[in-house]
Amino acid sequence: MNAKTDYIAVFDSGVGGISVLRQLRRLMPGERFLYLGDSANAPYGTRPPEQIRALALKAAARLADRGIKALVVACNTATAAAIDTLRQTYPDRIVVGIEPALKPAADRFPGGTIGVLATPVTLREEKFHQLAEHYGQHCTVVKLPAPGLSELVEHGKGDSPEAEALLRPLLAPWVGKMDALVLGCTHYPFATAAIRRILGEDVVLLDGGEGTARETKRRLHQAGLLNEAEGETVIENSLDDPALLALSKKLLED
Ligand code: DGL
Repeated sequence: MNAKTDYIAVFDSGVGGISVLRQLRRLMPGERFLYLGDSANAPYGTRPPEQIRALALKAAARLADRGIKALVVACNTATAAAIDTLRQTYPDRIVVGIEPALKPAADRFPGGTIGVLATPVTLREEKFHQLAEHYGQHCTVVKLPAPGLSELVEHGKGDSPEAEALLRPLLAPWVGKMDALVLGCTHYPFATAAIRRILGEDVVLLDGGEGTARETKRRLHQAGLLNEAEGETVIENSLDDPALLALSKKLLED
């Protein structure tokens, strides 16, 4: 039986999902959150999809034992590769997966040019093709895979000369030519400053964190499971490294 006071579990390949956890906490301050970063196995974004499915199932099993009413997949890559399997495995839980925010971008810029910065897996998987086909009718969608960027964020270097050097060849050709950039990986909001140094202040940056938080709240409300008690956040990581937990807490408070 799911109880109101059970945890909302939030899962990512590493510290990136903290960008989603921030939105979840903002929207539902009375909930209890249990965050798991799988940094021992990060990055997911360059792995074969079968491996990502196995890793996501392992993480979900660790969380499911702890009394959870919902599982938020705060990783675009894991959603792309594993959301169907997770839903089949946990039919009695609310399972919400983040996806690149193409819809809000296309709604805001009909006929515009929209970049999607994401992992190679997210951009290759069928889910993204469907999304891009649908919204690509109304705008131009530019795929921008950024392998290596999530690793920099994992090392606390989202805003660093290294991040800027990695992003510059990818983004500089689009300066002044792009209406919006969708941050299609939950690690990337932590590279916002580096992205802005290249693309400037005018381009609109969008990520799926807020939409995912809203959808989670809607589903909990619908199931009568919203908790409005005293909030709590527990952060865990598959890698036993105090520096990573400290980084997670810092990113949560930033
Ligand atoms: N944070 C993950 C996402 O949203 C991917 C990072 C990784 O490659 O592990 O796609």
